[in-house]
Amino acid sequence: MCQSAASCASLKLRKFTAGKLTAPVIQYKGISFQASQRFLRATSYQSSLGSFAHEGSLKSMQVANSRSKAISMRAQSRAGAHLSSFQSESPTSKKLEASSGDMNGTRGIIFRQLFDTSGSCTYTYLLGDPGAKEAILIDPVLEMVERDLAVVDDLGLELKYVLNTHCHADHITGSGAIKNLRPTVKSMIAEASGARADIHLQPGETVHFGDRHIEARATPGHTDGCMTFVSRDNGGMAFTGDALLIRGCGRTDFQQGSAETLFDSVHSQIFSRASRFAYPAMITGRHHSTVLEEKTFNPRLTKSKEEFRSIMQNLGLPYPEKIDAAVPANMACGIQD
Ligand SMILES: [Fe+2]
Repeated sequence: MCQSAASCASLKLRKFTAGKLTAPVIQYKGISFQASQRFLRATSYQSSLGSFAHEGSLKSMQVANSRSKAISMRAQSRAGAHLSSFQSESPTSKKLEASSGDMNGTRGIIFRQLFDTSGSCTYTYLLGDPGAKEAILIDPVLEMVERDLAVVDDLGLELKYVLNTHCHADHITGSGAIKNLRPTVKSMIAEASGARADIHLQPGETVHFGDRHIEARATPGHTDGCMTFVSRDNGGMAFTGDALLIRGCGRTDFQQGSAETLFDSVHSQIFSRASRFAYPAMITGRHHSTVLEEKTFNPRLTKSKEEFRSIMQNLGLPYPEKIDAAVPANMACGIQD
């Protein structure tokens, strides 16, 4: 569990300020300045940042390049009142209606697969209930927190929980930074992970957001505290973390890893239980797979347990580049030393 709210918040703010997320440069009315944390807190952060940046970029377009200006003027002329009203609106007034079927393509659960472009190749998943407008994020990455919260805001959602499938070794979780920016958000991770969080999950627990929920299943083996989160929506979605990757699986040679345990976890909690789609924590060249596909084609987990153990013992993988920084930070809810 996190420590008291006050000490936890002040620690996070200090670390966040000194950490990897630097204050952005704001352009407004032709003036550039670096936003302080006080500025970001005093405004509504994403919405104000978006508004300022949007106006700044329009100014730049109009004065820096005469060709752009001419194009812009022709576009305005063609678009007429529609473009004029678009330019005069702030992003805060353009929040999409979360119950709109157009936003999600269906009237079912809101679902976004977000990719870490900063280097870890992690997938972050946003799930939202279109009625209650409550949302959860699975496996947020520190460097992508601004992007993730912008998506949440654009969709008119309120973020309720941030969950980690396990204590990651390849990136620092965005949980701490998100909690700093959105103090009502609670972090979650399996109690078996030994990591700090607001709420520790037990196997079989359900996490509710609006009328939706996910079930937390224990899938240890990559680490002791790995969980797979399962939603019944969209025909069944299993967010497998690093337990099951597309045509692969997470390594088992560190962080209490055990090939035998991982084999049993995947077969008993993922392969043998009803979920149509499998969404991993990391990209392996594909965005998602189906449980049936992996049961049929996964080159490791379709083998016998003994063959699987032999494969995992002989992978010859290098020492993880970020493990020495990532694991201690993730054990502390994403706070960096
Ligand atoms: Fe991992």
